[in-house]
Amino acid sequence: MSDLVNKTAEMIKAKFESEGSGHDWWHIYRVWQLAKTIAKGEDADMEIVELGALLHDIADYKFHDGDDEIGGKKSREWLESLGMEEERIEAVVHIVDNISFKGGGKNNMQSLEGKVVQDADRLDAIGAIGIGRCFVYTGYKGHVMHDPNNKPKLNMTKEEYKSNVATAINHFYEKLLLLKDLMNTKTGKEMADHRHKFMETYLEEFFQEWDGAW
Ligand code: ADP
Ligand code: NI
Repeated sequence: MSDLVNKTAEMIKAKFESEGSGHDWWHIYRVWQLAKTIAKGEDADMEIVELGALLHDIADYKFHDGDDEIGGKKSREWLESLGMEEERIEAVVHIVDNISFKGGGKNNMQSLEGKVVQDADRLDAIGAIGIGRCFVYTGYKGHVMHDPNNKPKLNMTKEEYKSNVATAINHFYEKLLLLKDLMNTKTGKEMADHRHKFMETYLEEFFQEWDGAW
């Protein structure tokens, strides 16, 4: 592991350890590990991938009054303080700036390293872990887990997505079930297929229980 990666992991761990909305250090840790697994099947620059994964949520827009660019700025300041070369800082900032879903589903990630990190971040939003995170987030927001009268809203604008009062179950239809088809890499796609099937099984069970089956 490079010194830059080491120092960045330590800084991020300290910053995120106290955060309770699903953006905890362990989310970052899982994305980091997933990104390394995915990068092995690609011809990607491992240091850029690892730094992108570690910094990808450094200043999430949800916690900073909607400033979409603050993550990239903070990453740049941090990497400059460690003396990283400008060209490589740019590669990491590109990842941090383009990582978020924010309702649009538009893919502006240009670099291979960014595509790897994006796949890793998306994988952590689906499957067993993703289901857990979805319910934790819904509880944190104070929303109910399901309301049959509140239907999922597809194709929301960025503004609508941010202000939407989503139930946990609607979030599956508004985001989680869409992620499989947005995967960039072969390994990412395979992993997403597995996690996606598990979510479908989970939803079937959920709705059967909701209507009083077994
Ligand atoms: P990420 O860091 O994976 O891009 P987000 O910031 O979009 O994640 O959200 C953090 C976690 O909370 C994810 O697992 C995501 O699916 C979940 N989440 C985000 N928005 C909602 C919502 N409106 N309802 C339920 N879960 C949500
Ligand atoms: Ni993330």
